[in-house]
Amino acid sequence: MTNNETLTVRDNRTGQEYEIPIADGAIRASDLGKVGQTADEHGLAVYDPGFTNTASTRSAVTFIDGDKGILEYRGYPIEQLAESSNFLEVAYLLIHGSLPTKEQFDTWEHEITYHTFVHENVRSLMQGFRYDAHPMGMLRSGVGALSTFYPEAREIKDPAIRHQQIVRLIAKMPTLGAWSFRNAQGKPYVYPDNDLSYTENFLSMLFKMSEPAYQPDPRLAKALDVLFILHADHEQNCSTNAVRSVGSSQVDPYSAVSAGIAALYGPLHGGANEAVLRMLARIKTIENVPAFIEGVKKGEERLMGFGHRVYKNYDPRAKLITKACDDVFEVTGVSPLLEVAQELEKIALEDEYFVSRKLYPNVDFYSGLIYEALQFPPEMFTVLFAIGRTPGWLAQWLELVDDPEQKIARPKQIYTGDRGLDFVPASQRWA
Ligand code: CMC
Repeated sequence: MTNNETLTVRDNRTGQEYEIPIADGAIRASDLGKVGQTADEHGLAVYDPGFTNTASTRSAVTFIDGDKGILEYRGYPIEQLAESSNFLEVAYLLIHGSLPTKEQFDTWEHEITYHTFVHENVRSLMQGFRYDAHPMGMLRSGVGALSTFYPEAREIKDPAIRHQQIVRLIAKMPTLGAWSFRNAQGKPYVYPDNDLSYTENFLSMLFKMSEPAYQPDPRLAKALDVLFILHADHEQNCSTNAVRSVGSSQVDPYSAVSAGIAALYGPLHGGANEAVLRMLARIKTIENVPAFIEGVKKGEERLMGFGHRVYKNYDPRAKLITKACDDVFEVTGVSPLLEVAQELEKIALEDEYFVSRKLYPNVDFYSGLIYEALQFPPEMFTVLFAIGRTPGWLAQWLELVDDPEQKIARPKQIYTGDRGLDFVPASQRWA
């Protein structure tokens, strides 16, 4: 009986044929490594810069169908979660794999709420940054520093210890994020208010001044909560891959998550929403849009907030964000840059350059406008992304730690440099 679930590879250098099993639409790179392998020679390697066609893990956290524009967390469509859930419930779902009972949710909410405070020395560390420090740099350093406050976090094989660090990370991210914002403004840091919800407490730590208790507009708190849900996970993206790659060395989760924050900071990843807003501010009016689009088509620059490695259709998160945009603008008034964004989108969606490359608005195209309306400066946008993404990073980290197939991440290379040169000491070379 022949097994059709295989790939037959013929090595034309030797005429030898290999039968490679196919499982879940993939072949194992190690099976390909047997092609051409001899006692002295390595077999075939796969060259894949940027991992465009390499699966690095099995995962049950997030499903994406980029062609159809589908995003699901643990099987639940993002549209339903954004409409009817809240960020803490989604965080529970991502971490635990199923929705909480009432009792489980109450315990989870209580745990997160009561771990929002950080050690006073973390506060001093944050205050040591210059007035113009980028909040993402502060957040990354603050999260990295937490590993020194909780040395037991290194016990990553202990489920109870792991759980405690997960709770601490989700709880303390808004505190560190808000303080990085207050630092830039020279305002006193605001301590967490445990009577408020997760998102309301974050807004309080950001904006509270002398009032005894801060109560944000519920519509704004809801919109921010939805944005956190939309950012909560996105399978093997750059920052998640960084968390997994660093985590594969079995380091503590604070160190792994701070690597994720570093990756998210880059303009091609989470920094894109900041770049979108700067781009919109530069274009300024809809009259300038056609000239800008021509520049993009000539390759002079990119239309930030457009295109995605996975989505070759409208990013489902971008659709949900336009709804959140309407809700926020109802409270704050409409941003003058909204019409520039809408004109860019309209032209790009009809233009052959963007259509043929399947470039559609991604999650970052409109999120910056909402954040601006909520009074955040552009430097804060990626911090908001990081707070939302934390449960996803941790769910993926947990999966990695428990996965017997995972090894320390260590890609191959194709060496292109010199070999066997004779070293001439500096005293002779410079003589
Ligand atoms: N503007 C203009 N052209 C673009 C853009 C863009 N935003 N994105 C891709 N292209 C072109 C690119 O020049 C290339 O054209 P050609 O085939 O003629 O060389 C083609 O489309 C394919 O692009 P790519 O760079 O090979 O695609 P990629 O999968 O490596 O990059 C991306 C994905 C998101 C980095 C890229 O689309 C991009 O730089 N977009 C702008 C930045 C941005 O919005 N990033 C946020 C991503 S969503 C949030 C997140 O998950 O982090």
